[in-house]
Order: sequence, then C-alpha cells, then structure tokens
Amino acid sequence: MNLDARDRLIVALDLPTVASAEAMVERLGDSVSFYKIGYQLAFAGGLSFTSSLIAAGKQVFLDLKLHDIGNTVAKGVESVAQTGATFLTVHAYPQTMKAAMDAKRGSKLKILGVTVLTSYDDSDLFTAGYKLGVSALVGQRAAQARDLKVDGLVCSAEEAVNLRKIVGPGLSLVTPGIRPAGSAKDDQKRIMTPEKAIQSGADYLVVGRPIVEAADPKASADAIVAEIQQAKK
Ligand code: C5P
Repeated sequence: MNLDARDRLIVALDLPTVASAEAMVERLGDSVSFYKIGYQLAFAGGLSFTSSLIAAGKQVFLDLKLHDIGNTVAKGVESVAQTGATFLTVHAYPQTMKAAMDAKRGSKLKILGVTVLTSYDDSDLFTAGYKLGVSALVGQRAAQARDLKVDGLVCSAEEAVNLRKIVGPGLSLVTPGIRPAGSAKDDQKRIMTPEKAIQSGADYLVVGRPIVEAADPKASADAIVAEIQQAKK
C-alpha cells in the first residue's frame, strides 16, 4: 500500500468532550492527519465535530461498530457516508457487512469489519453461545469479509500476518494495541511497536494513550510517524 507515513497514523480521540478533543487536535497540528472518534466522544457531540475535522482537511475514522438488521445498518451507513468520514467500523457478521458495503457505494467511505473483539477469549465466546474459539471465528469472519469485498479489518498486529494470508493484499488492516518501545501497556494485552506492526503487514496504526496522554503529544506523534517511515525501508 503506497501511503504517506503520516497518513498511516490514526490518533484515537478517546476524550470526554469536544473542547478537549479540539485542544488536542490543535496541539497535534500538522503532525497528525487522521483521527478516530469512538463511543465516548461520538455521543458527546463528536459526530458534529467530525464535520469540522473534515473541513479542516483531516480524515476521520468513526469507530461506531454498527450491528443491527440490514435495513437499519444501511440507513445508518448512508448517513455516515454523507459526513465525509473515511472509515466506519461494523461487526463482521455477513448480513451487517453486506448491508454496509451496499449502502456506502458511490461514497468515499470505507467499511472496516471487527472480527472478534480483543477482550473476548475462547471461554467468553462459548459463554456467549458460539461454537468456535477466537482463532477459528476470526479466520471465518475474515474470509467472509474478503468474499463480501469489505474494505478492511480491525485486528491486533499479532493477527495481521495470518489475516493477510486469508484476505490477500486488497484489504486494509487497521491495528490498535500499538505501544512505542518503553511506553506503558495500559489495559492492552497484546501490544506491538509501530515498526513491528508495519512489518507485520498493518496498513494503519491506531494509537490513543501513548499520544494523547503524553507530556508532549506532538513529539510522541512525530516519533511514531518517524518509526513508520523507518519501517517501510
Ligand atoms: O489508548 P490506546 O492506544 O490503547 O487506544 C486504542 C484504541 O483502539 C481505543 O480507542 C480502543 O477502543 C481501540 N481498539 C482497541 N482494540 C480493539 C479495537 C479497538 O484497542 N480490538
């Protein structure tokens, strides 16, 4: 994938208010071109904030993890497409992915499937009524996403090598759980450095706390972009 290193870093704006998100975007300036907005900010005015970010020339990843009957997913995706967002997540169920892909046609929006949430292990899946463990279910859903021509998948960097074998070169792999060497793990269980994640086949890296909670967020973002650049060589 031929992307500028800076455009491969997506900063997670996991912040409680639009004012705090605006302040962070201001501090990061030209160092960051791509932002992720999840539940916390989306439900606190972040959806309108999406439009301001896009008007300011930034790309936006709406991490809303949609899942509903096909018609409802389709209508939601049509509305999201109109915001000008670049990425939207849906749970990687065949009906949901198909509805989302049909609904976004003709827009620049890309649909990312979430295979199995990383907080689930095999026993959580069995408790939730599934017959497959994590690895088998991730593989099955990745193959379904590929067959439905979904634009990409969210996965841990550890999963990227295997998933790339299943989905081929066409799908974007977007990986959270990134930690520069020496930084705190926080609650992430499976972490990888930016350089290793890129070498494992990740197209985009989602980074939250190592940047937004850093003493100097801009310097932290610059260091990660430099590491992405380095990893490409
Ligand atoms: O602060 P941190 O870098 O851990 O943030 C990672 C971001 O990626 C958070 O917004 C989190 O919700 C998201 N994410 C994740 N693991 C997944 C899917 C999304 O950490 N499997």
